[in-house]
Amino acid sequence: MTERTLVLIKPDGVRRGLVGDIISRIERKGLTLAALELRQIDEDMAGRHYAEHQGKPFFPSLVEFITSGPLVAGVLEGPRAVAAFRQIAGGTDPVEKAAPGTIRADFALETQENLVHGSDSPESAEREIALWFPNLSD
Ligand code: TYD
Ligand code: MG
Repeated sequence: MTERTLVLIKPDGVRRGLVGDIISRIERKGLTLAALELRQIDEDMAGRHYAEHQGKPFFPSLVEFITSGPLVAGVLEGPRAVAAFRQIAGGTDPVEKAAPGTIRADFALETQENLVHGSDSPESAEREIALWFPNLSD
């Protein structure tokens, strides 16, 4: 059973020149790229993407950060793609939660600038892929 998940390489990853490295890790894991695109999003799109976090203390700063420059958005495909990408991304806090060897642990220091987003469940993946890549959703 194949599955799809949304991945973002956030503006910090683009600014720091880590796009190639992160995509390489995705490919080495065995996940397939079904879409990949450079995007610059506005506040409205940021609010839709992070709808579950509206009202939280870190939300305004998160929106400012995610709209601060181009990011790379993609759709990954493979068996258990949602969990597989979350595994190689690592926990949200790159120091306290991400395991060594993950993208966040290896390349990031702060929770906000943690380089990547991955859908947290198949239901989230469906919602996020419809938002970012409406032409891909069935
Ligand atoms: P969340 O969905 O909880 O984490 P994840 O990206 O691992 O699914 O939060 C979304 C993003 O918001 C997270 O990647 C970084 C940022 N964030 C903060 O800046 N501070 C926080 O306390 C939390 C929980 C998240
Ligand atoms: Mg999340």
